[in-house]
Amino acid sequence: MHTHSHPHASPTLTEGRLIRWASFYDTFTNILTLGHIGMLRSMTVDLSQLKPGEKVLDVGCGTGGVTIPAKQRVGPNGTATGVDPAPEMIAVAKKKAARAGLEVDFRIGVIESLPYPDSSFDVVTSSLMMHHLPHEVQVRGLTEIRRVLKPGGRIFIADMLRLSKSLHDRLFATLTLHGGRIERLGIQDLPKIMEDAGFENVQLLKESFLTIGFLRANKPAA
Ligand SMILES: C[S@@+](CC[C@H](N)C(=O)[O-])C[C@H]1O[C@@H](n2cnc3c(N)ncnc32)[C@H](O)[C@@H]1O
Repeated sequence: MHTHSHPHASPTLTEGRLIRWASFYDTFTNILTLGHIGMLRSMTVDLSQLKPGEKVLDVGCGTGGVTIPAKQRVGPNGTATGVDPAPEMIAVAKKKAARAGLEVDFRIGVIESLPYPDSSFDVVTSSLMMHHLPHEVQVRGLTEIRRVLKPGGRIFIADMLRLSKSLHDRLFATLTLHGGRIERLGIQDLPKIMEDAGFENVQLLKESFLTIGFLRANKPAA
């Protein structure tokens, strides 16, 4: 169980790996993307094909790096919701949305048991979080995402590509504190789990950003 004691707030229990150092997270991701975090965020929102008026849920939203630009994209007639088990991440996300003057519903919660009714969202996004979950939680989480999506709704995932044995990729795995896991597993391993969870049109996109790949799929319409 990856929950560490903390003087202020307790995160929701999960087998996923939480990030509690929320105030450094945005700087850290900007360094890891060689100063191009804004470009990654734009690419993520573009490739997720969000449209004005849609209702989007961002699972494992962290500091709202995708949720906030997603709200800008769906506009005043759409809604953006972010969920994450780490209270520190949610607190930073809420502050950033308030500063941007955007209404985003950020909540503490876990992918294993999403706190939303069936068929609530047009789109679910998950950015850089699937590799934080053990296999069983990925399976449970994807089943939950399917439940909260409307029929015909879509899921969009950005996550680490399985790395090669090159020096650059090994260094990246070490710097991102992911060690051996992403040398063995990557976004290329998710389509099978998604098909088993009942998604269709599962597509690993040809686009990539540094060591990050993208996946799109649908919940069947009927
Ligand atoms: C690397 S961060 C990604 C944050 C954000 N999506 C982004 O693109 O910057 C991974 C996030 O997954 C969250 N996480 C870990 N276990 C989770 C779970 N069981 N359910 C939902 N989120 C989880 C962590 O707390 C962390 O905020």
